[in-house]
Amino acid sequence: KNAPASDVPCVRPETSPIPDYLNAVLEKARSNDGGAPAAYIETLANADTSKMAVALAMVDGKVYSAGDDKIEFSIQSISKAFVYALAIEDAGLPRVLEKIGVEPSGDRFNELSLEKGTNRPMNPMINAGAITAHSLVVGPNSTVEERTDRILKALSKLAGRELHVDEEVYEAELKDANRNMAIGYMLKAAGIISCDPRVAVTGYIRQCSINVNVSDLAMMSAVLCNAGVHPVTGERIIPQLSVRQVLSVMTTCGMYDSAGDWVSRVGIPAKSGVAGGIIGTLPGQVGIAAFSPKLDERGNSVRGVDICEQLSLDMGLHMM
Ligand code: DON
Repeated sequence: KNAPASDVPCVRPETSPIPDYLNAVLEKARSNDGGAPAAYIETLANADTSKMAVALAMVDGKVYSAGDDKIEFSIQSISKAFVYALAIEDAGLPRVLEKIGVEPSGDRFNELSLEKGTNRPMNPMINAGAITAHSLVVGPNSTVEERTDRILKALSKLAGRELHVDEEVYEAELKDANRNMAIGYMLKAAGIISCDPRVAVTGYIRQCSINVNVSDLAMMSAVLCNAGVHPVTGERIIPQLSVRQVLSVMTTCGMYDSAGDWVSRVGIPAKSGVAGGIIGTLPGQVGIAAFSPKLDERGNSVRGVDICEQLSLDMGLHMM
């Protein structure tokens, strides 16, 4: 016999709309006042550190966001994940693997970290690997404009709106690019990149200077969650094999020398950027993006990590 409705135990907690929940997650993260914004260029050093935002993009195309979700910031190293996919598409996976490894370096993102024996940068998420990946986009003799045009168009398609380079960030990064230029010249000397190192590094800096907001990043992440098919348009944007490769290196190397800490705390593939953005990508489920400018000593957003950890706990996102 069916039990009367009143006898059915209520096993679901009271639910509130998702943005209310996301606002609560942001407020909790606000209590962590640690870290400092990146100081190497003025635009980042002067960022308003009170700003915080979070967005979730589902594989059915719905996006939920809260906080300063209209604020744009430079994508920085988060671009490395997507440009790695483009390098695989343009140069082929065997060529990419010949030039860039897939092992965590355990060193800071701007160390040279070349693998003994092969001379390859350890992985595509550190600067040396990302500069190499950038040089493999389009063709070996392409110009800065050709490569950045390809990258800008691809990232815009992923985000679902037209993105632009922040020229102020680009100019400032270029003026102070000695370390990345040095990495470029070392890559050339090691026989890893074949083009002019200045072209590869200038293009890489332009790629890092593309502006995004958290909703853009969540949608870009959701394309990876959805095996390379855009959740809104249904268009295949990234081949499935490339998605697998990208998510693998995001899992092992996406959070730099704190990858192990991240995997145990949050447990999903991720990538961070020095402007304070982070993406998390849970295959088949949800693309997460968080933003807050203050970074920890490894270059990851302090509150961004807290936000992702909270979401992972509350929604049971951890892969293990
Ligand atoms: O290459 C650089 O120094 C920066 N334009 C990007 C690095 C970055 O985002 C590192 N991330 N935490």
